[in-house]
Amino acid sequence: MKRIGTFFLALTMAGAMVSCSSKSSSSDSNDQDKEFYGRGRTVGIALPTQNLERWNRDGVFLKEQFEAVGCKVDLKYADNNKDKQVEDIQSMIDEGVQLLLIAAVDKDNLSSTLDKAKEAGIPVVAYDRLIMNTDAITYYVSFDNYMVGAIQGEYIKEQLKLNETNNTYNVEFVGGDELDNNARFFFEGAYETLQSYIDSGKLNIVSGKNTFEQVTTPEWSTDNARANMKQLLADKYSDGTTLDAVICANDSTALGVTEAIQSDYSGTNHPIIVGQDGDVENLKNIVDGYQDMTVFKNVNDQAKVTLEICKLILSKETPSVSLLENLHVDVKYDTSTYNNGVKYIQSYLLAPYAIDKKNLQSLVDTGIYKWDSNNKYLDIVK
Ligand code: GAL
Repeated sequence: MKRIGTFFLALTMAGAMVSCSSKSSSSDSNDQDKEFYGRGRTVGIALPTQNLERWNRDGVFLKEQFEAVGCKVDLKYADNNKDKQVEDIQSMIDEGVQLLLIAAVDKDNLSSTLDKAKEAGIPVVAYDRLIMNTDAITYYVSFDNYMVGAIQGEYIKEQLKLNETNNTYNVEFVGGDELDNNARFFFEGAYETLQSYIDSGKLNIVSGKNTFEQVTTPEWSTDNARANMKQLLADKYSDGTTLDAVICANDSTALGVTEAIQSDYSGTNHPIIVGQDGDVENLKNIVDGYQDMTVFKNVNDQAKVTLEICKLILSKETPSVSLLENLHVDVKYDTSTYNNGVKYIQSYLLAPYAIDKKNLQSLVDTGIYKWDSNNKYLDIVK
């Protein structure tokens, strides 16, 4: 209940936060860039993996934007291997980068490496995923991760018309990687949004798996999600029990769930499937009616906010929300949600939103996607 309170507070406060008003002309930003103290400095960017589509987009946008203001970029992907990520970051410290930007493979595994960054005077920004148990980070740039799950829960509520019907429905949750701090937020956002219907028996979790720990998917892998769903269908749904909806923490897991349902589900209905990230394969499934919704996060905007904060850090200035105002990005400043075990981290949280069949064009409007040659499916522009 406490988290719901925080969520609504965040929602009502959102308007008071950065409302992305006046557009700065490109000449203004060029003038600013000329003064930019970080020009010629090297930024080390450590990302988790290229196997998950979104992280490729993050890499492209971050590199492009940092290089456009004259920074050098050392971008490394850790192949989802926490030890490789420690090596990646250590080599960036050794080469003398002036700033580290990190999306952690394992939230708990970086404390001693980041102690070394701190000793070397290298500022560290947590990108997308919070890093636990370290005082080396001050800033965190992400999306409102609880809201991602809440949007999924709201979608299920509307699609099943839970406030109007007397029917009962069977649902399942598929979570993300427990090493990723975001995964619990996604689960809690979705679960707590649906909790009153679960408590009243309108929604029934047939597997009985109603805690985050019971539904995690190692490495966010499609293969793991497919295998888990096949097992669940065999154990709990092979007797003809209807499955009405599956809330998947992201699109790579939603893909595995969709495949398992296509091959192993004996019912004749189409279970509602929701995911997150706007991955191309999942958008295709949305067009074809196999997936219903994905929570979209504009990582180009995330890179813009990140760049702005990093520029200020490199210029030895203090980031503040008002300085982000000319970015035209819906972002709020939050100092009371993300505690990494040592302190509350100053967080800049962008707004996610739902994409289904009806508003696919809005993805094209972001400039990140384009319609394919048949105007049927979406592709990534670059
Ligand atoms: C999360 C991220 C999601 C999703 C997931 C799997 O940390 O916020 O957008 O991509 O990782 O990579």
